Amino acid sequence: MSVREPDSELVAAARRVHLQAYCPYSNYRVGAAIRTTSGAVVVGCNVENAAYPLGSCAEAGAIAAMVAGGEREIAEVVVVTDGDQPGTPCGGCRQRLREFAGPDVVVHSVAASGATWSSAMAELLPHSFGPEFLIEEQAP
Ligand code: THU
Repeated sequence: MSVREPDSELVAAARRVHLQAYCPYSNYRVGAAIRTTSGAVVVGCNVENAAYPLGSCAEAGAIAAMVAGGEREIAEVVVVTDGDQPGTPCGGCRQRLREFAGPDVVVHSVAASGATWSSAMAELLPHSFGPEFLIEEQAP
């Protein structure tokens, strides 16, 4: 799917925060920058743990920062990873983003090499489950 170029300010923010990653176990640095619909930029990086399953993804950190800052609507996402190949958000993070991002929101994955892969949420997580399934009628 061909979508627009990533916002350069968002790429710069994701590149900066990816350098802060705490990833002594995978040595795979990830930075995520989210532009909210109000125009704010929030960032997160992956934070690993000696108890491996407790590590958290960059996207989760950025989403937590967004919500803590009082915002809940994602306009654009940039994820920066090391290596030649752009690292796309993991399945869990696709669902985390989906909670706050509509189907047309574009997620850009940018590698250290500069290679970029972009996709709209609807393509990244088709037929997804979201909050609207739970709102409205309650089961009797
Ligand atoms: N990681 C992220 O931060 N985001 C993703 O979407 C994929 C994976 C992190 C988790 C772990 O610290 C490292 O990358 C290797 O899996």
